[in-house]
Amino acid sequence: MSRQSPPTSGEKESEESSMQMLLRNEIIEERMRMIDEFIEEYMDENFGEPRVLYEAAYHLIRAGGKRIRSLIMLLACESVGGKICDALPLALAAELLQTASLIHDDIIDDDSLRRGVKTVHEVFGVKMAILAGDLLISLAVRLLGKHGSPRLLEHMGEGGSRMCEGEATDLLMSPHHEEDFNEEAYLTMIDRKTVAFVEEATRTGVLVGGGNDEQMRSLLEYARSLGFAFQIRDDILDVEENLILSGKTHHSDLRLRRGNYVVLSALSMLDKAGKRALLDSLLNYEAEVILEMLRKTEAVQKARRKAQDYVQSAKRALHDSSLGNTRPLTSIADFVLDRVH
Ligand code: IPE
Ligand code: IPE
Ligand code: MG
Ligand code: MG
Repeated sequence: MSRQSPPTSGEKESEESSMQMLLRNEIIEERMRMIDEFIEEYMDENFGEPRVLYEAAYHLIRAGGKRIRSLIMLLACESVGGKICDALPLALAAELLQTASLIHDDIIDDDSLRRGVKTVHEVFGVKMAILAGDLLISLAVRLLGKHGSPRLLEHMGEGGSRMCEGEATDLLMSPHHEEDFNEEAYLTMIDRKTVAFVEEATRTGVLVGGGNDEQMRSLLEYARSLGFAFQIRDDILDVEENLILSGKTHHSDLRLRRGNYVVLSALSMLDKAGKRALLDSLLNYEAEVILEMLRKTEAVQKARRKAQDYVQSAKRALHDSSLGNTRPLTSIADFVLDRVH
């Protein structure tokens, strides 16, 4: 299984990737290997009929993925003194839910590339892809029921339902409705779409590890800040130029006229005429004009500073806490800012 999406083009092979740097932390490398092995074993043992449905469901899982949510869950569990083996099946459930959300997100966004491979609906068709996502959600519920508790099921369900709300909010946000196409609305949207699930995965780790209230508060604060930084970095990857390609469809947000943080930052810096011009180019999807306006306003730099602030807050939350070894979680926070996948 590839640890990260293979470069699609332009990557300098000699350069150490952000993921390789993250894996230099021995604990992270070891936990990541445990997650990968657990997932492999699970996929080998859980095949049903028709076989193609399972092939579709496991297609993206086999392609890799960063496993960030499952990794944070394990590390949160350990940092409060819990045992990794208790968290592993729940981390697997988080990965299945994450992958399900991406299969469906790629249908919604009509994207053809994910984790460096063709998306599930491109390979297996939209109908099978919808079922593959549904199957992964059902398998995750089964795991949470078997290895978790009603409380954990409730929290992971909360993370999933908030993610659906966020995906719907993302769809409804549009440059056609200028009054709601701004940074404030965006932060509410990503709180649902991305932050909530990171938060609930972390909460699960703390609960299963038996953490106290103070540890829970610190780790949830960490998870929330990390989640915001993570999505802003994702938005930068969508529009950044001269960048190692991410293994996902580039300019998807621009093509779909989505509320991308970099674009919203540019809008916030422009005068009335500039705003109108950018909104018009967005509506007409004039990619070159949009990118030029992003360059002029230095919006990527602004977005990066915002993500940096969130990463700092995430690290501060760990620093001010009474948790065990927080170094691996700190490394993940740094990774989020520099990740290229
Ligand atoms: C993609 O998540 C969806 C977002 C919330 C940006 P990841 O970037 O964590 O995707 P994988 O699981 O590593 O492929
Ligand atoms: C995040 O939104 C998707 C989910 C939370 C499922 P995006 O649409 O920005 O994610 P990518 O960029 O396709 O991974
Ligand atoms: Mg998408
Ligand atoms: Mg995106």
